Amino acid sequence: MNLSPSKFPKHIAIIMDGNGRWAKKKGKPRISGHRQGGQTIREVLSVCQKLKIRYLTLYAFSVENWNRPQSEISALMDLFHHFLRKETKNLIKKEVRLRVIGRIDELPEKVRKEVTRSLEATAKFDKWNLTLAVNYGSRTEMVDAVKAYAEAIHRGKENPEECSWETLNSYLYTFDLPDPDFIIRTSGETRLSNFLMLQSAYAEMYFSKVYWPDFDQAALLEALENYKDRERRYGLTGEQINELSMTEHSVT
Ligand code: IPE
Ligand code: IPE
Ligand code: MG
Repeated sequence: MNLSPSKFPKHIAIIMDGNGRWAKKKGKPRISGHRQGGQTIREVLSVCQKLKIRYLTLYAFSVENWNRPQSEISALMDLFHHFLRKETKNLIKKEVRLRVIGRIDELPEKVRKEVTRSLEATAKFDKWNLTLAVNYGSRTEMVDAVKAYAEAIHRGKENPEECSWETLNSYLYTFDLPDPDFIIRTSGETRLSNFLMLQSAYAEMYFSKVYWPDFDQAALLEALENYKDRERRYGLTGEQINELSMTEHSVT
């Protein structure tokens, strides 16, 4: 496979789905699928670094996932805690900055503590960026943004007459991240499930049949191969895009 780096997305966001079905297929408890999914995170991050893809965002736990059985929720929280504890030193070694988006303050205290520790320990890096969406939902993100914005109006820091998309964007959890270029969902489901709904306005979508624990380098390369043939038009015509890419090439 010969992929040109200029055709890579700058920011990949993945809905890591299918852990439960992966485990069921193997006759194992669902949590073993989640555990194996943690291993996939390490592998996918390494492949992104190899390919010089600087931004990777992963959907780990949605606000709706609190409605799952309590035993699964507790096991998942234990896994996050364990993952952060173990992984922080690797992130430092790889010079990856971690971000966590979502309502962190609603997570169990021991998870919150690890989150804070990992965020602080990696805050100085800026080249590689791993973002975990935990207790995340686009609609709660919108609610939190509107509350913060309204508060800023109240304090006289914002003027609604001057409100633009850039203004509102600066109140989202993702204020310091570029929009995702490529959204991948594993496991064959073809929906967003409340993930980055505003940020993905012009993202390309890709749905892989592979369950997340089996999503390896080959599966990611297959997705990227598919991405490279797409034409992103942002509302323009194909002809306009051709002209733009010709002027870009004559400049460089
Ligand atoms: C994704 O796998 C992980 C989380 C949502 C936490 P699932 O647990 O949703 O796996 P399936 O969809 O039941 O197979
Ligand atoms: C979406 O997966 C959330 C995460 C991957 C963390 P779900 O498995 O919870 O989504 P639905 O319920 O199938 O839409
Ligand atoms: Mg699922």
